Amino acid sequence: MSKKELAQMLNKALELEHAARIQYLTHAELIKGINAEPIIARLKEIAEDEKRHEEIFRELISSYLGDVPSMSMAETHPAKTINEILDVNIKDEMHAVDVYTGILEKVREMKEELKYEYFQLEHKLRHIILDEQEHIAELCLLRSK
Ligand SMILES: [Fe+2]
Ligand SMILES: [Fe+2]
Repeated sequence: MSKKELAQMLNKALELEHAARIQYLTHAELIKGINAEPIIARLKEIAEDEKRHEEIFRELISSYLGDVPSMSMAETHPAKTINEILDVNIKDEMHAVDVYTGILEKVREMKEELKYEYFQLEHKLRHIILDEQEHIAELCLLRSK
């Protein structure tokens, strides 16, 4: 795999982050009722994390791989009730973990070629995966059975 192909994979990740942030902020506006407040707060907090992830991906794509960050966004998924919103976002977070884990594996395979970028890519990608796993745990805690 080339650096160019790796940058393309990271651009797909960036597009997932764009979609995730918009989706969380939109879903936060749809939550109503007596239990709404803490859930809205959590969704907005997660949206802030996704914004940080966007910034990290842009930097990796641009400063470390010499490519152009995408301005597109992946598909978003509608939901209405609180439980639907939580379920849809848990599923999307799991998808992000799967995609990012695949990219991390590619980065590790490219260690030799990425002599001067490897630890930045490996460290930052791994930290984003940790955040997404935390998001899954946080959303699952809010999910009423
Ligand atoms: Fe993220
Ligand atoms: Fe997330």
